[in-house]
Amino acid sequence: MSKTDARDRLIVALDLPDVAAAEAMVNRLGDSVGFYKIGLELVYGDGLPLATRLVKAGKKVFLDLKFHDIPNTVARATAQVADLGATFLTIHAYPQTMRAARGALAGSPLKLLAVTVMTSYDDADLAEAGFGMGAAELVARRARQAKDIGVDGLILSPEEAAAMRAALGRDMLLVTPGIRPAGGDLADQKRVMTPARAIAAGADHLVIGRPVTQAADPKAAADSIVAEIAGALA
Ligand code: C5P
Repeated sequence: MSKTDARDRLIVALDLPDVAAAEAMVNRLGDSVGFYKIGLELVYGDGLPLATRLVKAGKKVFLDLKFHDIPNTVARATAQVADLGATFLTIHAYPQTMRAARGALAGSPLKLLAVTVMTSYDDADLAEAGFGMGAAELVARRARQAKDIGVDGLILSPEEAAAMRAALGRDMLLVTPGIRPAGGDLADQKRVMTPARAIAAGADHLVIGRPVTQAADPKAAADSIVAEIAGALA
């Protein structure tokens, strides 16, 4: 497994207060990172032009926008994201939403990642929201529906990766946040895995924010994560 393949597995979450800070971080990371996640906070602070600049600079961009709306709106918004040249887009794993987004890809290389059940939800939260099943059952049901509809992958916790890989097979992309290098600061993440363990559990891409962006030397932190990934892929 080459270093480039390993580098492609790392997605750095640009959870920074504004575009200037995000752009400074991208410059600092240089060739060490080729894939960035831009979420809602940055998108509402001029993050879309940044996404376009990153794509033009040869970087891959994961737009974590978690679409969920009526099918027509989801389809048209998905087509816009495809035009931006993004590589990944998140959508909520409601069948209508997944079908609408899937239908809007029209041969574009944009890949859809479904959020099955947000990890902030437990069984009590689902019951409060009117669902008649718990989180584990709903995750399994929506994961199967995502695959059947032709969604490209899932966002999930690294602890779910091995079971999902076994249930869904090789051709579903599994993308996992909640990653901490051994001995790293957990911050608000409770259930974490090291990069090597997450890759061994079947994750295709790791979304990592603060262990890189808050490191004293972000470039060295990214290099060390990529080296660990390369070791796990070897
Ligand atoms: O800084 P840290 O590595 O914890 O960042 C992880 C990224 O993944 C953040 O952008 C966070 O919003 C996202 N994420 C997560 N847990 C989820 C879903 C998304 O940490 N269940």
